[in-house]
Amino acid sequence: MRIAIISDIHANVFALKAVLEDIQSKDVQHIVCLGDIIGYGPDPIECIDLVQEHCTLTLLGNHDFACRTEPVNFNYMARDAALWTQDRLELAYPDEQARDRRLDFLDTLPVRRMLNDDSRYLCVHGSSRHPTNEYVFPDDGFSVERMKPLFDRFEAVCFEGHTHWPGVFVSEPRDGDDPVYSFYRGLCSEGRQGSFSSGAMAGIDRIVLRLSEGAKYIVNPGSIGQPRDGDSWASWSVLESSDDDSTDPVLTFHRTNYDWMRVRERIEQFRREGDERLDPFLGERLGMGR
Ligand SMILES: [Fe+2]
Repeated sequence: MRIAIISDIHANVFALKAVLEDIQSKDVQHIVCLGDIIGYGPDPIECIDLVQEHCTLTLLGNHDFACRTEPVNFNYMARDAALWTQDRLELAYPDEQARDRRLDFLDTLPVRRMLNDDSRYLCVHGSSRHPTNEYVFPDDGFSVERMKPLFDRFEAVCFEGHTHWPGVFVSEPRDGDDPVYSFYRGLCSEGRQGSFSSGAMAGIDRIVLRLSEGAKYIVNPGSIGQPRDGDSWASWSVLESSDDDSTDPVLTFHRTNYDWMRVRERIEQFRREGDERLDPFLGERLGMGR
C-alpha cells in the first residue's frame, strides 16, 4: 500500500493542485494531511474542498484552529492572515450548505490519530507530546534530552508537520545504552547536503524504516504551501508498506514545482481591492522557500 503524507498547505491551492496531480501518477491509495490546510495563503476555501475530497485522514493544525477560534501567540502577519481567513470562511460559496460543511469539517478535525488504525503509526501536526503546537526542528536532533521524551510517546513512527522542514529523525537502538538519535534532511533541489555534526544531515530522497530492528522514526514531509528549507518546490512524502509486513516499509520524499508567482498575484489582488490583511511578504517568501 502506498500512502502519501502531505502537510502545511496554508491555503496555497496552486501548490496543492500540482502535488495532487503528482500523487495521482504514483499509484497512491490514500492521502493523509497533517494539518494547517489554511492560514497565510489566499485560497482557503478551495484548499479545504480539495482536502475533503482527496484525503482519507486529516489532522488539526494550529492555523486551522486559530482560523476557527482566535489567533493567539501569532506574529502580526499570521494573526492578520488568520483574521482574513476567518472572514473568507464565512462566505456562503457556492451556498450556505457548502460553507457549513467546511466549518464543520474544520471544527471536528482530530489532533492525533493512528494511520489506518495501526498503532505503530501516529499522525499529529506538531509533536507526539503536544500534537498541535510543539515544533521539532532539525537542530533538536542534537539533544537526547529534547528527543527522548518525544520518541518515548509513540510506538514506531510519528508523522508530523508544523516546522515546514522535511526530514527524518531516527532513533537507533543500542544494547543497554540510550538510543542514538540522528536527523536526515528530506530531499531538496539544492542536492545532497554536507555532514551535520554528530547527526548525518545528508539530503535523502528514500529511507527504509527498519521497524523490524526496533528503530523508531519521526517523519516530517515538509510543507506543500510554504516550504522553509530554502527550496520553493512543494514538499511531500510517500510511505510504501507491504500488506503482510514481510518487508520493512520504505519512505520517499518528493518535491513538486508549481507557479508560486500566481499565489503572490492573488495576494496582491486582494490588496488592490482594499483588504491589506495578507502581507505581501507571504507571497514573496514562496519564491525563496523561506
Ligand atoms: Fe504550518
